[in-house]
Amino acid sequence: MPSLFDPIALTPTLSLPNRILMAPLTRGRATREAVPTEVMAEYYAQRADAGLIISEATGISREGLGWPNAPGIWNEEQVEGWKPITDAVHERGGRMVLQLWHMGRMVHSAVTGRQPLAPSPITPPGEAHSYNGKLPFEQPRGATADDIKRVLDDYSRAARNAIAAGFDGVQIHGANGYLIDEFLRSSSNQREDDYGGPIASRVRFLGEVARRVVAEVGVERVGVRLSPNGAVNGCDDPDHIALFNAAATELEKIGIPWIELREPGPQSSFRPTEQQPASPAMRRAFSGKIVLNSDYKLTSAQAKLDEGIADAISFGRTFIANPDLVERLKTGSALNRWDVDTFYTPGPKGYVDYPTLDEAA
Ligand SMILES: Cc1cc2nc3c(=O)[nH]c(=O)nc-3n(C[C@H](O)[C@H](O)[C@H](O)COP(=O)(O)O)c2cc1C
Repeated sequence: MPSLFDPIALTPTLSLPNRILMAPLTRGRATREAVPTEVMAEYYAQRADAGLIISEATGISREGLGWPNAPGIWNEEQVEGWKPITDAVHERGGRMVLQLWHMGRMVHSAVTGRQPLAPSPITPPGEAHSYNGKLPFEQPRGATADDIKRVLDDYSRAARNAIAAGFDGVQIHGANGYLIDEFLRSSSNQREDDYGGPIASRVRFLGEVARRVVAEVGVERVGVRLSPNGAVNGCDDPDHIALFNAAATELEKIGIPWIELREPGPQSSFRPTEQQPASPAMRRAFSGKIVLNSDYKLTSAQAKLDEGIADAISFGRTFIANPDLVERLKTGSALNRWDVDTFYTPGPKGYVDYPTLDEAA
């Protein structure tokens, strides 16, 4: 069985020196116009030893991006803003893909300037982040056929822009209760057309997005993130194993080379759930590489590789706090603890000031 420190060909054109990936992490350090900033280049370059950096979720359109100070990839200024970041990561010997994000009903019009879009007009529970603090979610508009066509065009443009900005590929964000996940799961999708109802129809939108992105940048540059088990942001499904098995089968048909699954357990410190993981069933349906996420430490990560379910592991919060995580895991060194209070705050504090082993010595 491979070790976490062994190389892997994640796709035919993307070889990684190790199997320790940086999970996508929203950090809110872009401008209000969703343009990346200089400090983001420093942050990502510090973490370039990761086998692969998956960027923070990045809006494909103003409609799809409601998180304050999160970055976008729909216009030229944003493409120019990303270039120094991909350059900095490449100069440090790293590799980086961009996570493509449409937040669906999880946005507020106070940020996007328009009514949220979703498969069905069902208001999610809870509150949206905005520049004026948290605001109760609004009722979304159920997407029309024209809306779906327009959103697919937005995915195409965003994928094209990501390559123009120097990324090594893209990851389609199909997880965590955002637009694609809202189409997948029955609690948020009550459509009666070809995009709702039976599982095969609810998987259709994911498949269409994947095909459009593949047509734009080539299948070897495309990965997908899903969160098969556990309710998240009001998205839930009683038959999650059959649903995500169908999703894996669809991605297999398209030839997607890798998927990342955020699969917490009952003891997880991030959205715990009693729902069984779907990854063993998905492993049988999907011949590409599988990256697993949530709460992993050195021993549990290696155990998942040994079981043959995962080909690589992505680490989220541990990468926030440990820019030299690969080195620390390799040498069995202690890990810095993350500071929740600075996850999303502007500026360098809690962002680029976590010490490496060298700095701490
Ligand atoms: C601060 C923060 C920001 C996150 N942002 C994203 C994101 O942009 N996209 C995404 O798919 N998941 C996001 N997640 C989920 C993480 O990628 C990951 O699934 C979660 O942190 C659990 O993994 P861990 O236990 O290794 O931290 C975020 C999590 C945290 C804590």
